Amino acid sequence: MSGIDAIMRLAPVIPVLMIERLEDAVPIAEALVAGGLPALEVTLRTACALDAIKAMKQVKGAVVGAGMVLDVQQLLETLEAGAEFVTSPGIGRSLGQAAQSAEIPYLPGAANASDIMLGFELGLSHFKFFPAEANGGIPALKAIAAAFGKVRFCPAGGITHGTAGNWLALESVLCVGGSWVVPRGAPDKHAIEGAARAARALHA
Ligand code: 3PG
Repeated sequence: MSGIDAIMRLAPVIPVLMIERLEDAVPIAEALVAGGLPALEVTLRTACALDAIKAMKQVKGAVVGAGMVLDVQQLLETLEAGAEFVTSPGIGRSLGQAAQSAEIPYLPGAANASDIMLGFELGLSHFKFFPAEANGGIPALKAIAAAFGKVRFCPAGGITHGTAGNWLALESVLCVGGSWVVPRGAPDKHAIEGAARAARALHA
């Protein structure tokens, strides 16, 4: 079992977190872990994302990763911040090789069969199917997965609490990613914990 496989099996949902204020990082992580979602993906789309990763790592039980890692430089920055796994929206050879040599659990984006075949060349078997809904949704992933028996996915992009269960019913899907669990704005810990609990109850 690869490191990323174990992380993808921690819970049916990996919340994708857009942390805009550093002071929100710890309360959000605490609420998510309390609700049963330990794997947290902090997207590098905000200025304080790296500091948020550092802060969230202090929360007991949290497994904090970096999302939207686009190049080797960003990979190195996330490793420095202590990210425990890394995702990217697509796949490229130099980033993939750097992630492999850093031995960080890595989930590259894959949107088609060619992306998966490049992943194989890099020794990877787990992918973020991204952007999941815009890229053809469940029929597209089913058709792609059928060509690759043992490949496993975390679809993300456009998934909601209402649609997550349909994705999780696919044999090739270990978990889904999504930002719905933590709405933007000042965090309401109680509401986030409730949304996390509901997400945890979805079946993989
Ligand atoms: C990601 O970074 O995985 C996606 O942007 C999450 O997509 P969503 O905001 O549509 O859930």
